[in-house]
Amino acid sequence: MSTDSFLVLKDQVAIVTGAAAGIGAAIARRLARAQAGVVIADLDASAAAETADSIRSETNSEAFPLAMDVTNPASVEQAVQTVLQRFGRVHILVNNAGIAGRAAPLWEQSLEEWRQVVEINLFGIVHCCRAVINAMRRERYGRIVNIASIAGKEGNPNMTAYSASKAAVIGFTKSLAKEVATEGICVNAVSPAVVRTRLLEQLTPLHVEYMTERIPMRRTGSPEEIAAVVHFLASKDCSFVTGQCYDASGGRATY
Ligand SMILES: NC(=O)c1ccc[n+]([C@@H]2O[C@H](COP(=O)([O-])OP(=O)(O)OC[C@H]3O[C@@H](n4cnc5c(N)ncnc54)[C@H](O)[C@@H]3O)[C@@H](O)[C@H]2O)c1
Repeated sequence: MSTDSFLVLKDQVAIVTGAAAGIGAAIARRLARAQAGVVIADLDASAAAETADSIRSETNSEAFPLAMDVTNPASVEQAVQTVLQRFGRVHILVNNAGIAGRAAPLWEQSLEEWRQVVEINLFGIVHCCRAVINAMRRERYGRIVNIASIAGKEGNPNMTAYSASKAAVIGFTKSLAKEVATEGICVNAVSPAVVRTRLLEQLTPLHVEYMTERIPMRRTGSPEEIAAVVHFLASKDCSFVTGQCYDASGGRATY
């Protein structure tokens, strides 16, 4: 990649939540390869440290592990302050941390299970955006990318909480994007279909088959394929695109 490409993220700092594993780790690695300094923010501090080590050894970029529970506003605020003290700025926030929750029909799920999914997938994004948005507004620059899901558009059975939380992420993205549209901040979402990560362990093989069968490409996606879409949305090249939901779904989304 030529160094004058806007896709180069030299001197930029990116926080990626849930970056210790799966899609988040692939996103952090991709941004680091584009020369961003990346903050590997995750509930699992030791896995975050391992991922940061491996990214640092593969790229010349800074990779900084940070313990963060996205459901806890105090933990998020403290983590963002640590990043601001260390790096001075946050250019990119990728809200990726999320869980599927246990696959079961609505009547077999407890309210507590339902709430946990919404707390992580929706409120986690709200807390992280609230913690960085004023710093981005002061600099009149920012790129926020929220990882939603095709479930938020199509609705998957046995995943009411997950589907509802991801639909809410898409609505939240469109709304926040308009609030900061004249301030140099672009806010977009990415909706993956099935991607082979540990998250699928929360579901039954039958459930994964149901979702994969609906993908016109007839295959699952890779974390790297999602990271490629996020890279554009996190870059300066994404300058006239905001409030959108990009599908990385092998053609599954019908709208
Ligand atoms: N895998 C898929 O098929 C798929 C499809 C569509 C959307 N997504 C979305 O992509 C995102 C990443 O999923 P994945 O498949 O890589 O999952 P994963 O389970 O492999 O990784 C999720 C990461 O998030 C972290 N995490 C969980 N709760 C957290 C919290 N409270 N605070 C901070 N970190 C937390 C975990 O420790 C883990 O490292 C999620 O938002 C998920 O909903 C995944």
